[in-house]
Amino acid sequence: MSEQKFWQLSPQERRGKLKLNRADRTFWAAAAPLSASVLNGLSENVIGQMSLPVGVVPDIRIMNDRYTIPLATEEPSVVAAINHGFKLLDQGRAITSATTRHGLTGEIGLQNVTPEGITALKQTVHQLYAVGLAAHPTLTVHGGTIHAIMFDDTALPDVTLLVHVDPGQAMGANMLNDILEAIAAAAAECSGGTVLFAVLTNDGRDDLTTVQATLPADAVTPVVADRIAALSAWAQRDTRRAATHNKGIMNGVAALTLATGNDTRAVNASAHAYAALDGHYRGLSQWHVQADGRLRGRITLPLPLGTVGGATKVLPSAQHALALLGQPSVARLQIVAAAVGLAANLAALNALVTDGIQHGHMRLQYHSLAVRVGARPEEIVPLAQQLAAQAHPSEAAAAQLLAEMRKELQR
Ligand code: MEV
Repeated sequence: MSEQKFWQLSPQERRGKLKLNRADRTFWAAAAPLSASVLNGLSENVIGQMSLPVGVVPDIRIMNDRYTIPLATEEPSVVAAINHGFKLLDQGRAITSATTRHGLTGEIGLQNVTPEGITALKQTVHQLYAVGLAAHPTLTVHGGTIHAIMFDDTALPDVTLLVHVDPGQAMGANMLNDILEAIAAAAAECSGGTVLFAVLTNDGRDDLTTVQATLPADAVTPVVADRIAALSAWAQRDTRRAATHNKGIMNGVAALTLATGNDTRAVNASAHAYAALDGHYRGLSQWHVQADGRLRGRITLPLPLGTVGGATKVLPSAQHALALLGQPSVARLQIVAAAVGLAANLAALNALVTDGIQHGHMRLQYHSLAVRVGARPEEIVPLAQQLAAQAHPSEAAAAQLLAEMRKELQR
C-alpha cells in the first residue's frame, strides 16, 4: 500500500510525523481551554471563549531554512490552497529572494503652529529623540531604536510629525504610542502648537517585505503560465478583481498572523492601504512569464508582526505556533508570511485559470459532509474517498455509505 499523504492522516498521526517535542505534542493534543485570568487579561466583558482549528503546511524550505507553518482558520480550502501553492513553488525552494525591513511609523498632529514655532521645532529635533527614548527605555534594550523624526509643514498651521521606530522583535504598537505621546507633549511645548492626536499609522509603506519566486519549468504548462500572468495583470487594472486577488493572499497571511498571536486587523489594514498607495487599488502580487518560459512571481507586503510581547506571549497557542516555526526572528516570520501569501495567491490563480475554484473545494466538501453525518475522525478520509466516487454525493448518500462502512467492519 502506498504511504498515506499528510492530509490523509489523523491529527494524532500528523503530530507524530512532525516529531514534536513532548510539551508541544501534549499541548496540541490536549486543546486545553484558556484560564479565566488569561481571558480577562486579553479582553473585556468576557463570557467564554471560542476555538479554531490550527492546520499546518509541513516541510517548507524558504531561503535555506525549513518550516512547519501553522495556520489558524475556519476555512479548510485555505490550508489546502497554501499546501498546493507551495507544491508549485517546489516546497518553497523556488523562492529566489526575500528582503524585509521591520519598523513602525507614528504620526503626531499639531495644530496652531506658527512659522516661528516650526523653526524652533526643527532646531530642537535632537531633544525630541531623547524624550522619545526616555519614554520607553526598554526599546534599546530589546534591540530597537528611533530611526527618524520628520516634519510635514506643508499645511501650516497644521504640522505632522512622522516618527519611525525599529521596535526590535516586538510588533511595537503600544511602545510606539507611548513614545509618540511623550514626543507630542514636548513638541507642542517647543512650538507653541496644540496636540490634536498622537498614534501609530497602519500605513506600512516604509516597512515592506518582498518575496520573489521562479517556478520550476514543469510546475505549470506554458498555457497555464500565460493565463496566470494575464489574470495577475487583470488585478493591476480592475479594482473588483484586485480586491478578490488580495483576499486570496490575505487568506494565508491572516491565518499565520492569527496562529502566531499577532494583530490581524493591523496586518489587513496595512496591506489594503499599501494596495492603494498610488491612488488606484491593485493586486499585491504580480506574475509574469520570463524569456525562458518560466513563471515568476513577486509579492510586497507591509507586515507589522512581532515574536515577543502582546498576545504572542499571553496565548499558549501562539507560543506553540512560534515553536512549530522554530522560534523565528521577526524578519524570518515576515518572510514566511509573505511566502504564504504568494503561495495562497498562486494556488488561487492556478485554480481559477484551470478547473475553476469549485473543483478543488469538492474534496474538502466531502470531508465536511462526512463530519456532518457523524463520521468519527478515523472514518472521515475513507468516507470522503467513497463520496468522491459517487455520482450524487448528498448527505443521504454519506449517511448510507457510513452505515455500510461500519457494517462491513463488524463482519
Ligand atoms: C477565496 O477565498 C479566494 C479566491 O477568491 C482568491 C482569488 O480569486 O484570487 C480564490
